[in-house]
Amino acid sequence: MNADHLRIDAARLLVRLDRLAEIGAIEGGGCCRLALSDEDKAGRDLVVGWMRDLGLAVSIDRIGNVFGLRAGTQALPPVMTGSHIDTVRTGGRYDGNLGVIAGLEAVETLNAAGVRTPRPLVVAFFTDEEGARFAPDMLGSLVYAGGLPLEEALAAVAIDGKVLRAELQRIGYAGDAALGIHRPSAYVELHIEQGPVLDAEGTTIGAVEDLQGISWQEIAITGQSNHAGTTPMRLRHDAGYCAAATACFLRGLAREMGGAQVCTVGRIDLGPNLINVIAARATLTADLRNTDEALLRQAEARLDAFLETLARDEGVAIRTKRLARFEPVTFDPAVIRCIEGVSSRLGYGHRRMTSGAGHDAQMLARVCPAAMIFVPSVKGISHNAAEFTAPADLEAGANVLLHTLLALAAKEAF
Ligand code: GLV
Ligand code: MN
Ligand code: MN
Repeated sequence: MNADHLRIDAARLLVRLDRLAEIGAIEGGGCCRLALSDEDKAGRDLVVGWMRDLGLAVSIDRIGNVFGLRAGTQALPPVMTGSHIDTVRTGGRYDGNLGVIAGLEAVETLNAAGVRTPRPLVVAFFTDEEGARFAPDMLGSLVYAGGLPLEEALAAVAIDGKVLRAELQRIGYAGDAALGIHRPSAYVELHIEQGPVLDAEGTTIGAVEDLQGISWQEIAITGQSNHAGTTPMRLRHDAGYCAAATACFLRGLAREMGGAQVCTVGRIDLGPNLINVIAARATLTADLRNTDEALLRQAEARLDAFLETLARDEGVAIRTKRLARFEPVTFDPAVIRCIEGVSSRLGYGHRRMTSGAGHDAQMLARVCPAAMIFVPSVKGISHNAAEFTAPADLEAGANVLLHTLLALAAKEAF
């Protein structure tokens, strides 16, 4: 049967997005479903229910990744799509969720039209993509792709002190499916851009060709508490000052390096955190990203050197702990071309682009040809309740996903 005319049902897509967004809803229309929290469990239960309603065979693996399989007409490796449904604490309603719900919408469209694909299709959502509660980010897909031993991932400690293994069991998602189940012939993920490029240009579809390298560290500074009024400046060992100086240094470093280099200090905790006490302790995070591995290494080396000098000058101890380190990723040219071809055929403007954010697709790219479809984020706002993508763009992205899946699932060889 020729499926060229098929289109997803935009209203159904929006209803599912709304229903998922009701779980862990926060002021401003966003979501808080930190990985393996009660809210994440409720979101997972809802999506698994939808998978079952659509006739998908659901499997949960040992790190809690969830897969819904739709049989093909041939016994070939499947084509996989998906994303994540965990969010940062101040998340929007589209980041991750769109990719999973659009995958389900593609399946429902095929079911309704009675279209069977040669290759099976799998819609997946991966555990702890955000890394906002348990580092590293993309943890579930990293374990799936064999990039992190299961035992190490299960031992990860959350920002609230809870251990991942116990949290996975507590919410009932410590599955028994083998890691790497449904090893795909190809993977394609629909996601909002989370940056300003498509919105500024008025382009509907991004065919993502590469993704920035990510370096995450936690920096722990130990100085000495003392009286804020009586301690002369020259006698201070001020961990609070060092944290602030590091944030300023990183801003300057990104400005000086230019290009794709970005640096963020997203978290600073001070102790004792009192107005008239010099801080004895500071813990902060450094998030460094670049599309060029050599430049990212340069930025890391500059930060190391800065911290060494700072520790000496201020008389504090500084320890660093690596939380995540991923090299830049180049996506598969054939899958990118397939996305471009489908976008042209459906009449959507498209362009190639780089992803500034991390995604599960970068881990899947380790095991199969993979690429991503982006749709515009209004004003490039994301990891913020105000994150917004226009319904017409959500619909366009889901249609491009549907037809990319159809094309990949009809492909005999990769
Ligand atoms: C994940 O969302 C990341 O890029 O930090
Ligand atoms: Mn995401
Ligand atoms: Mn995110």
